[in-house]
Amino acid sequence: MAAEPINVNEFQELARQELPKMFYDFYAGGAEDQHTLKENVEAFRRIMFQPRILVDVSRVDLSTTVLGYKISAPIMIAPTAMHKLAHPHGEIATARAAAACNTIMILSFSSTCSIEEVAASCNAVRFFQLYVYKRRDISATLVQRAERNGYKAIVLTADCPRLGRREADIKNKMIVPPLKNLEGLLPNKVISVSDGGSNLEAYANETFDASLCWEDIGWLKSITNLPILIKGILTREDAMKAVDVGVAGIIVSNHGARQLDYTPATISVLEEVVHAVGGRVPVLFDGGVRRGTDVFKALALGAQAILVGRPVIFGLAAKGEHGVRQVIEMLKNELELTMALSGCPSLNYITRSHVKTEHETPH
Ligand code: FNR
Repeated sequence: MAAEPINVNEFQELARQELPKMFYDFYAGGAEDQHTLKENVEAFRRIMFQPRILVDVSRVDLSTTVLGYKISAPIMIAPTAMHKLAHPHGEIATARAAAACNTIMILSFSSTCSIEEVAASCNAVRFFQLYVYKRRDISATLVQRAERNGYKAIVLTADCPRLGRREADIKNKMIVPPLKNLEGLLPNKVISVSDGGSNLEAYANETFDASLCWEDIGWLKSITNLPILIKGILTREDAMKAVDVGVAGIIVSNHGARQLDYTPATISVLEEVVHAVGGRVPVLFDGGVRRGTDVFKALALGAQAILVGRPVIFGLAAKGEHGVRQVIEMLKNELELTMALSGCPSLNYITRSHVKTEHETPH
C-alpha cells in the first residue's frame, strides 16, 4: 500500500496511480510547451520570506470573509471540470469536503454532477462558474438555475474564447463525458463530435462564444441579481476595465496554464493587478498553489484568498471526499505554521514586507 501522503504534492502521484492515463493527463496537463504550467509553481520558489520574531503567535486565526461569507481560511476550491472522471461521487464529494472544511466551492459549468445535485448534497457556500455559449439561452438558463439553487455568485471565466491547445488530450483522443448541467439543453451530437483528436477541443470550439466582450457584462447583469466575478485577469488594463464595468471581484488566473502558454506565472502579475484595483473590489488568485507558504505569499502580495485547482482533483482521485478534505486541511495547517513562524497571529498581520520578490534588493 502506498504511504500516507504528508503534503499536497504527494497526492499527485497517488492520483496518477489511480487514474486511466487519458484522465490523469487531462487533469495534470497544460497548454503546448507547458512552460507556464511549470512557471506557475516555480515562480513561488523565487519569493522569499522576511519573517518577524517575538510576536505572540500562541493563537493563529486563519479565518476570513469573501463577498461577506465567513470561511475558515483563505483557501477556496477552484472550478474544475468533470470530477466524475476522478471519482464516482464527482462534484458531490468535492462539495461535501468544502462544507466539512468550511470553505467555498466554485462549481464548474462543465461538471458531471448537476447544479441541483450539488446544492442538495451539502451546505457549503457555493459559487457557480459560467462559460458563455453561442447559445446564450443555455448559459442564461444555467445562471438562473444556480441562482434558484442558492449559489451565491457567478464566476465568469473570461480567458476561454477558444480552448488552449492541450497536446496530451489531442494524443489521447480525450473524450468528453456527458455534462450533467447540459442534459436536455444541447443536442447530443455536439458533445459527441469527434475530429480524430481531442473531443474536448472540438466540443469547446463548437459551443463557446468567441465573440464575448466587455459590453456583454451588461447582459450578464441583466439576467441575474448575483454578484459577478471575472476569472482570468492577468494585466492592470483588464483589472481596471473589470472594476469599471462593475464586477464584485476579480480572479487573477491563467486557467492553470491550460490556455495561452507563455503567459506569466500568476503570482508574478498579482501585485500589478492588486495595485490597479486599489482595494475597490476583492482580488482572488489561483495557479500553482501547492503549499501553505504559497498561500501566504499570495496574501502578502494582496490576494484576499486563493483557489486550488489540481490538488483538489488529485485528492479526489486518490481518496474521494476524504482526500479533498486532507488536501485543504494540509494547506490550512501549513499556512497556520507559516503565519506563526512569520509573526502573524491573524491574516491582517500579513503585509507586503513579509515577502521579497526576486527583483527587490534586500534592505
Ligand atoms: C480547470 N480550470 C477551469 N476553470 C474554469 O473556469 N472552468 C473549468 O471548467 C475549469 N476546468 C479545469 C479543469 C482542470 C482539469 C484544471 C486543472 C483546471 C482552471 C481552474 O479553475 C484554475 O484556474 C486552475 O486549476 C488553478 O491552477 P492550479 O491550482 O491547478 O495550479
